[in-house]
Amino acid sequence: MAKFRSPRGTHDILPDEAAVFRRVYETSRRVFEHSGYREIITPMFEEKELFARSVGAETDIVKKEMYVFEDRGGRILALRPEGTASVIRSYLQHGLHAAADIQKLYYLGPMFRYDRPAAGRYRQFHQVGTEAIGSMSPYLDVETIFLLRELSIDLGITRASMHLNSVGCRECRPGYIGVLKGYLGDRLDQLCGDCRTRFEVNPLRMLDCKNESCQAIYRDTPLIIDHLCEECEGHFDEVRAILTATDIPFVLNPRLVRGLDYYTKTAFELVPDAEAGGSQSSLGGGGRYDELVEMLGGAPTPAVGFSAGVERLVTALEELGEKGEGAGADGKPDVDVFFVVTDEETRRTAFRSMFELRNRVRIDMDHSGKSVKAQFRLANRLGVSLTVVFGGDELKRGVVNVKDMESGDEFEVPLSELGTRLAEIRTP
Ligand code: HAM
Repeated sequence: MAKFRSPRGTHDILPDEAAVFRRVYETSRRVFEHSGYREIITPMFEEKELFARSVGAETDIVKKEMYVFEDRGGRILALRPEGTASVIRSYLQHGLHAAADIQKLYYLGPMFRYDRPAAGRYRQFHQVGTEAIGSMSPYLDVETIFLLRELSIDLGITRASMHLNSVGCRECRPGYIGVLKGYLGDRLDQLCGDCRTRFEVNPLRMLDCKNESCQAIYRDTPLIIDHLCEECEGHFDEVRAILTATDIPFVLNPRLVRGLDYYTKTAFELVPDAEAGGSQSSLGGGGRYDELVEMLGGAPTPAVGFSAGVERLVTALEELGEKGEGAGADGKPDVDVFFVVTDEETRRTAFRSMFELRNRVRIDMDHSGKSVKAQFRLANRLGVSLTVVFGGDELKRGVVNVKDMESGDEFEVPLSELGTRLAEIRTP
């Protein structure tokens, strides 16, 4: 039994899974960069106040789930629970608005939430996401939805639906909240404790309660989409029309509310289909946040973005049986060439040659003193395409024996030409 274990809610990403993680990262980068988004890397911790202001002081994320600590200089900091606040902080700090009308940025990396660990819910997890800052255009809402959809489809996740709603803005939301509170006010005694608290501090979040008996009451509540101001309604109509015109399927979900307070207008989540056997939690989500830049001290600047949970994408891939078989889990062997040695003398030469050639070819060898036969067995198991035998007699003639593992062909190659020949054979 190991003396230490990874902290509760965290997980090690072992090499097989790391290959799948990397596939998610690489696919994300490609999808984002093909749409003109550029990478931004911000610190993993920020002033706590940044998240309180943007995500919302009364949200679960800020109230219950943040890793907050005081550093030796007395600063109150928090591990980032999400990426948007940091990106906007950086956008303002470096005056990125001056560089382009619309800044299109993306990020990848770990986030931290002191959440109750469950399937697909971790305390350190990873997100990939984009933010398009500086435009009100509904086309950018649709581009953002497209990016989330494209990412999941590229990864082979097809059985998931895009849920869509509008959560209004500072003009229309207070009116709707009044209507909602009016409706729910005399039903409070039938609601759970959490919902009664939310009624006071964050009534929209009530609709997101997982409690069956609360949901039964919310079934007939007034809906925000019936209380949008003219501008929000027009924007939402446009978003839906463009989604339809671009063949992006969506499900109108007027009860969709997000766990972060900064959203305005469009909100969306990609949810795995229940019949696909997927877990019900969202693979990714996002929306418009036209008031956030201003709330953090900038000029009024509309923006829209999303992020997806890498662990959830990986789980969805696994549930769909798309993980890929064989060594390295991405279907590729870990190395292409295996060096076989016959004794300790030839090991020296092989070892040195391996160092010289590794910048061109992926090579490994055994170091546990295996017999030649056992070294070949290992080479087979690794799935390499070539083995190179360093034999004493051959080396005296300055040659080594190369074996093509697929065809079984063997041929001698001068040691001085080995790198060139291996590279040629590997990439004909
Ligand atoms: P969010 O909905 O809080 O949005 O998180 C986005 C995704 O992160 C979720 O859909 C889920 O896949 C993943 N996720 C969240 N919490 C956990 C957890 N505890 N364990 C594993 N995965 C998790 C945001 O974070 C916003 N910043 C998205 C955004 C960007 N909106 C505008 N721009």
